Parts: sequence; structure tokens; C-alpha cells
Amino acid sequence: MTPVSLLEAGPTDRTVDRRAAALPPMGTGSPSADAGFAAVDDATDPISLVHYLDRVSGQLDGVKRQIRQQLEVSEGEFVLDVGCGAGDEACGLSALVGLSGRIIGVDASTTMVQEARRRATGSAVAVGFAIGDAQALPFAAASFDACRAERVLQHLRHPALAVTEMARVTRAGGRVVVCEPDWQTLVVDHPDHALTQRILDFRAGRLQSPWIGRQLARLFRCAGLVEISVRLVSVAFGLSEAIDSFRLEVTLRQATQAGVITATDKSHWLAELTETAQTGCFVAAATCFLVRGIKPFRA
Ligand SMILES: C[S@@+](CC[C@H](N)C(=O)[O-])C[C@H]1O[C@@H](n2cnc3c(N)ncnc32)[C@H](O)[C@@H]1O
Repeated sequence: MTPVSLLEAGPTDRTVDRRAAALPPMGTGSPSADAGFAAVDDATDPISLVHYLDRVSGQLDGVKRQIRQQLEVSEGEFVLDVGCGAGDEACGLSALVGLSGRIIGVDASTTMVQEARRRATGSAVAVGFAIGDAQALPFAAASFDACRAERVLQHLRHPALAVTEMARVTRAGGRVVVCEPDWQTLVVDHPDHALTQRILDFRAGRLQSPWIGRQLARLFRCAGLVEISVRLVSVAFGLSEAIDSFRLEVTLRQATQAGVITATDKSHWLAELTETAQTGCFVAAATCFLVRGIKPFRA
């Protein structure tokens, strides 16, 4: 492909409702420390979200490996990581494209992009980072051989736009790979099913697109991608991993503040889970949808 000055590429001519894209998650009222990954830079302590990504990354090794397999990156290719976070996967992929290729990570958060640049500093890898919105990517059409996004579209108000944008910036014959959870697949074994479901439903309702996993294949087709495949990747969690990965402390605090559960519900629910974990019987799992499509040569 023709090398392009990717980081200098201007904004697209797409009409995107940026005001809508910038809105906070459902029910939060305004961007705040609680908006999480939908508005990292508005968090009280944005770096804590970087640390969170570092902590959970090990639990997702299997997921990341499968995304790489689906991406089929080879030497000399230009690859885009949308919602790249702290940039670790972009740096990892750069070893596969070598110095003749290039990996670009794009993220809406200045904190994330600064951290990604810091991590890439000094390494002789062909990787660069840009601040940008997944729903209006700041790259010219057909700039990349492959494009990936992992755990990003769940935070977007307009995930369909992001898939359309990923298809647009991918060259004909190139690959688009997205991996997202579907939060209705989150199961936690607890004797109080009703309370558990109330907590999990509240958590899902805080996200912009909690059901994105199951919707991806349809969004790929609407974006004109072909040869669409869907793989399911389930991840099981221990109690402390679950509390961390699902940000359960935050969820429980918010659910209590919102009056969805009482402070007593919160402490009883956690106490029961802790007791179950001590007997070695704690079960929590969620499923990610790993979807791949090809940009056709003819629309
Ligand atoms: C859960 S993190 C995942 C990061 C990375 N993909 C990974 O797997 O480690 C979600 C990322 O999406 C980014 N993000 C949220 N909204 C975005 C948007 N509209 N455009 C681009 N990135 C966005 C966040 O800043 C955050 O870095």
C-alpha cells in the first residue's frame, strides 16, 4: 500500500454528531469520575484507569491472542488500533510489521495517548499514537491494511459509526477485527438471583452500548464488510478479579447512591460472594464476541 503520513492525515469529511458522541453514559447526568472509559480524561484520577488496564490485561491474554490470529498481520503492513488505551497491544503488534510497516494507535483520551507515547519511547518500533474519536477517525480512506478495536465500542454512543469508520479507513481486501463483551453474558453465581440480576443490570445500564457483542456482526454487514465470522471467547474470573475487572466496587457504590440497592444489600451481597470464594466455589464469567470482516474490492 502507499505509505501515507498517517498522523498528519486531516479530519474526514464525514458528518458526525460530535456533541452526541461526547455525551456521558446513560443515566450519569454529566461527565464525571464515574463515566469510566467513556470519558477517561474527566475522571478524578485518569491514571487509575491506565493501571486498571494493566491489571486486567493478564486475564485477557487468551482474548488478545485470538484477536491477533484473526488480524493476520504481516511484515510491512499498516495497522490501526482503535481505542488503543495505553498502547501495549500497538507496541506488541509493531514487532509483527517490522520497520517497513507501521502501527497507529488512536484514542479519545489524552491521558491514554500520552501514556502510550511514553511506553513506546526509546523502542525502535514503528508505532505512533494520535488523539481521535473512533466515531470520526482522523485518517484518510483506505489508509490501513488491517484495523482492530478491543473493548472500546461498548463505551460508544454510536458504535455503528465506529465500525463504518473502521471499514472506511481499511483498504479493499483488508481486515477489520473487533472484540467486545456482551454484558448480558455476565454471570455471577449468588444465592440471591434477583439482587444479583439487579446489580448486573444496573452495571450494564451504565455503559453506552452494553449489548454491543451480539450486534457486531450486523454492524459489520451494514458497514459493507464481507466474509464476516463470529467467535465467542468466554473468560472466567476469581472473586478479586471479578471485583476488579467488572469495577464492582464502583458499580455497588453507584447502585447504592442511585437507590437501586441498599447499603445492607451491598454488604450482604459481597459477604456472600466472599464466603463462596473461600469454599473455592465462586463462579463468574463473561463472553466476548470476536468479529472479523473483510473490506470488499467492490462495494
Ligand atoms: C477498556 S479501554 C480498552 C483499551 C485497549 N483497547 C485495551 O484493550 O487495553 C477503552 C478505551 O477506549 C477509549 N475510548 C473511549 N471512547 C472513545 C472514543 N470515542 N474514541 C476513541 N477511543 C475511545 C478509552 O479512552 C479507553 O482507552
